[in-house]
Amino acid sequence: MAKKIASARIDTESSQLLKELNNSLPFDRVLYKEDIEGSKAHAYMLKEQGIISADDYDRIRSGLDTVLEEIESGKFSLDGDDEDIHMAIERRLTEIVGDAGKRLHTARSRNDQVALDFRLFVLRHDEEIANLVLDLIESLIEVAEKNSSVLMPGMTHLQHAQPINFGYHMMAYVSMFMRDYERFIESKERNNFSPLGCAALAGTPHPVDRRLTSSMLGFKAPTLNCLDSVSDRDFALEILFNIATLMMHISRLSEEFILWSTSEFGFIRLSDKHATGSSIMPQKKNPDVPELLRGKTGRTYGNLMSLFTVMKGLPLAYNKDTQEDKEGVFDSVRTAELSLRVLKEMVEEMEVNKEAMERACNKGHLSATDLADYLVKNIGLPFRDAYHIVGNVVNYAEELGKDISQLTPQELKSVDSRIDESACKVLDNRKSMDARDSEGGTSTRRTLEQIDAVKRWLNRQKNARKRE
Ligand code: ARG
Repeated sequence: MAKKIASARIDTESSQLLKELNNSLPFDRVLYKEDIEGSKAHAYMLKEQGIISADDYDRIRSGLDTVLEEIESGKFSLDGDDEDIHMAIERRLTEIVGDAGKRLHTARSRNDQVALDFRLFVLRHDEEIANLVLDLIESLIEVAEKNSSVLMPGMTHLQHAQPINFGYHMMAYVSMFMRDYERFIESKERNNFSPLGCAALAGTPHPVDRRLTSSMLGFKAPTLNCLDSVSDRDFALEILFNIATLMMHISRLSEEFILWSTSEFGFIRLSDKHATGSSIMPQKKNPDVPELLRGKTGRTYGNLMSLFTVMKGLPLAYNKDTQEDKEGVFDSVRTAELSLRVLKEMVEEMEVNKEAMERACNKGHLSATDLADYLVKNIGLPFRDAYHIVGNVVNYAEELGKDISQLTPQELKSVDSRIDESACKVLDNRKSMDARDSEGGTSTRRTLEQIDAVKRWLNRQKNARKRE
């Protein structure tokens, strides 16, 4: 029986169950590109440092190109018996180029190899997700701009509170997504260091040049300490946390879309592309897309907790437990990227029912606070007294079956003689919305100001990304 390529001391063939437990190829094969890139940089460095010959380097490099081609064309299917993607590629390389392939693993261990591949994967997706968040923000500010004077009831406790505009509501989500974007970019910056050349745990006696491989692979610099580098998975935890937070925001927006598309609200209509029917009720159009986005948030929290738990008791340095770092990250990354793409499409294609939103503002006495503020500012009443007077006005309006904004000056005065004629003006919902003109407030002017600030921010981010 041929010896396994990486088991000098193990003669018996592994049990089928061990393979099933131990082999990570079924999931870590998605790292094939990163693995080949890392190996190419490593081999080049070995040659530059005189550790392998130029001939061996040439064979390794062209062999790795062949392996890459074979994987991408499906000729090398990556569903064999190999333990993981690193062993699979090394085996195939050695089959193609012979002895030179066996020299590739000089001054390297799978510990720094996997730390490198996985980190490259995570950093790339930090960037990819950040870009998708920018795309989503662009669509949201477009909707916000179009709807910056469409009145809607602002809520607290899911009860009508004060009139706002729909654009302003969208801009609240834009603020969340801007923070998300920054988290992904900051994580990428913080973790942009190469672990390659750390070998098993302690470095290597070979004269490696870690700075060369680091810059070839696009990192800022090599990591500081090898013992840390082969066991550190903070970069993976960070992307999981960032995704969990992003999905929490996506889930909250989805929840509002679901609510707003009910017949009770009717504020929006999702495009038919993003709704499904019922198998029994012919009239139904269900908001499956936002429901799925809300539902998928759960697994991203699970993936974060799962890796936290894997890492918490691990002594330094590499332990096989760490192999459990990958599936959750792959799942969260796939979930986040798909969710962002779908959400953007949904935002762009939904219809906003301006009339329904504005009609909803005629319920719930949204401008009650405005009347209290008016009595303070114009009549000089203490706020607490004004608050009680307005409470009486609301009770009176309810008796008449009216909203406070529909009361006549006479009706107002009949509740309290201190209320003057012009008080009526502040009860108008649009005036109420536009009166909240403080910085960051809901007035159309302030909403447009926020949109403008975000547009400038977007340009800065795009220019910064271009320069990289
Ligand atoms: N498949 C392994 C992982 O994902 C690669 C590292 C193996 N290293 C080792 N010492 N067994 O973590």
